[in-house]
Amino acid sequence: MMNVKDFWYVVAESRELKKKDQVLARKVMGEWLAVFRDENGEVVIMQDRCKHRAAQLSRGKVCHGQLQCPYHGWVYDKEGQVVAVPSEGDNFKQTKSRRGHTFLACEKDDYIYVCLSESGETKEEPFVMRHYKEKGWNTIRLINRFDNNVTNCVENFIDIPHTVYVHPGIFRNPRKQQIDVDVQRIDGAVKASYLNETDNFGWFSKLLNSEGSGISHTDEFFMPNVSCVEYIFGPKRHFIITSQSIPLENDETLVYTDLTYNYGIWNKLAAPIIRWQGQAIIDQDIDALANQMEVIKKYGSDFSNTSNDVIHVWVESIQKEIEEGRDPRLLPERNKRTTMLV
Ligand code: FES
Ligand SMILES: [Fe+2]
Repeated sequence: MMNVKDFWYVVAESRELKKKDQVLARKVMGEWLAVFRDENGEVVIMQDRCKHRAAQLSRGKVCHGQLQCPYHGWVYDKEGQVVAVPSEGDNFKQTKSRRGHTFLACEKDDYIYVCLSESGETKEEPFVMRHYKEKGWNTIRLINRFDNNVTNCVENFIDIPHTVYVHPGIFRNPRKQQIDVDVQRIDGAVKASYLNETDNFGWFSKLLNSEGSGISHTDEFFMPNVSCVEYIFGPKRHFIITSQSIPLENDETLVYTDLTYNYGIWNKLAAPIIRWQGQAIIDQDIDALANQMEVIKKYGSDFSNTSNDVIHVWVESIQKEIEEGRDPRLLPERNKRTTMLV
């Protein structure tokens, strides 16, 4: 059996939880979370609700790696165990049953992750952020809220045909260029390899690809919520956009975007331009996706497809398996070549 709760989801950047006495209030899949560090600096994630009279623990204080409720001062340790009730003083006796709900937590590539697995264990691993902090590489992180669900968000992030309409001039200009795409569904992932793409990135090409090198471009989806777009412009320019889409509620998604690139000596100089450009593109997608969800709420999501929607269709096939409790890695491998005009 597989459940969407068996996976790891970003709840914060590590740098947001730097101070020892800090506690963050977060939400993932409708679950309210209090996130703090124990005395060894390890992340602890608890349901944001006191067992006593339901105060919100994230409004409390962290002291020596333990979290104190802001209402009557009950103290929770890193296992969620209530270890002190101030009004009881020394008479207080710990019992195993008096404990808050904790969730699996881990930290990787400067992200803090939670897993809401009901069994309290998971076989999955957080996504490995490509080239993060490697020599010669730079990463810019953006965080944005989308009024739409995870599936529609990831589909947007690896959707080429929309770019000429939603991002004209800024990302890609319409010019009816024919692009062949090899699409593969394998192992809970979808990979699209664009075969004969040439330079079509508006004024941004000057920076990305000043020498007009051939472009290698792949778009990937990894179940259940990660997309990865990679552009290689010749040997010296490499650009990767990794988006982790975190379901806050059904129609509310927080997207952590890593813009990771290697432009050689231009790395530093390019950073503000890449940040501005990335955010401008995301703002346009936020608008398009909010509108899509408004219409879905009114008329439902009865979508219609052509052969160019194969990426969407295979992403949806993977999401459906997870929704129905099956492992999408067991789906048969599929391959298809399609041609797009963009
Ligand atoms: S509600 Fe938390 S200690 Fe009373
Ligand atoms: Fe877009």
